[in-house]
Amino acid sequence: DAKVSVGLLGVGVVGSGVMTLIEKHQKKLMHQLGCPVEVKKALVRDPNKKRAIDTGASETVLTLDAADVLDDPEIDVVIEVMGGIEEARRHILSAFAAGKHVVTANKDLVALHGAELHEAAAQNNCDLYYEASVAGGIPILRGITDGFASDHIEQVMGIVNGTTNFILTKMHQEGVSYDDALAQAQELGFAEADPAADVEGLDAARKMAILGRLAFSTYIDLDDIDVTGINGIELADLKYADTLGFTMKLIGFAKFDGKRVEINVQPALISRNHPLADVKNEYNAVYVYGEAVGEAMFYGAGAGSMPTAAAIISDAVTVGKNMHRGVTGSQFIEPRFKKELKSTDE
Ligand code: NDP
Ligand code: HSE
Repeated sequence: DAKVSVGLLGVGVVGSGVMTLIEKHQKKLMHQLGCPVEVKKALVRDPNKKRAIDTGASETVLTLDAADVLDDPEIDVVIEVMGGIEEARRHILSAFAAGKHVVTANKDLVALHGAELHEAAAQNNCDLYYEASVAGGIPILRGITDGFASDHIEQVMGIVNGTTNFILTKMHQEGVSYDDALAQAQELGFAEADPAADVEGLDAARKMAILGRLAFSTYIDLDDIDVTGINGIELADLKYADTLGFTMKLIGFAKFDGKRVEINVQPALISRNHPLADVKNEYNAVYVYGEAVGEAMFYGAGAGSMPTAAAIISDAVTVGKNMHRGVTGSQFIEPRFKKELKSTDE
């Protein structure tokens, strides 16, 4: 019988959400794809762990061996939500070698090894999508690649890390300490396995590398991005900014002047009247300026189980539709040129 069979790598915050939504919206998925979607197998580290979804009640087989998923000829799509870099990279490359399509939320991996993954996908006629890797539930990559397909994007900027925005909001509005706010963000599942990636700005930098590459169709290396996090920020800094009419936000900024790219991540003082000052908690907002479209703003939940899972499933639906049409696709725009970087000091 026709179906789209999924192999899940990871059943944590995001993976549990993927399983929940696929089960909950099976009818809608059937309607869109003309066949059911099943999560046949899922890779975990600890089969006895209590999860947000009752895996015992589902037909999904939990496994500790990635080969069970990657070598299963019935699995069409591998959804990678285990995180980390090297192991995830190896599994994704194996998935492509086995002719499987891949959807991932892993910005660390895409920012670092995106070119290699795209090449492997293309060589094996496989799809590669990663909408959830930037700004959680907001369809920003589709917005940029499809919505601005005929435009020349000059600027992309905004709040692309939910954890730091959550911390700054809690500190500013409720006087919560930095450490307590970070602990809450971890508890809610917004933070990375190592939250240093969030608070030191690296997670935002990885997302800006992906956004910049797609927006400007050029190569952006992580090393090219000047990064400052919020780990040095104290409650007193936020209070002082407040007295001056400003709110502090961790802002990713990327600008292309037709020749050179300027890209950085840093805490910035935003006027209280600016729309970005109103983006609270784990919400993200990305401002895009295109020559033809002019200004556009994308706003929504930037982290968390369900918003992220929704973005992943939208990618899986795209893959399912591609499979039915007999075409392959990816979130890839062939870079047109090697970028020239403009130093932020200039
Ligand atoms: P979690 O830590 O909650 O989940 C990771 C899952 O992967 C767990 O089920 C874990 O197994 C499994 N896993 C990890 N390493 C291995 C391994 N070596 N072998 C077998 N299984 C493994 O992470 P999240 O769900 O929060 O994040 C997953 C990915 O999604 C990351 O790349 C993250 O950056 C990205 N992301 C996360 C968002 C969020 O809001 N959390 C938003 C957008 C993207 P076990 O449960 O048994 O330990
Ligand atoms: N740790 C990330 C964040 C998850 O807080 O934005 C979403 O990518």
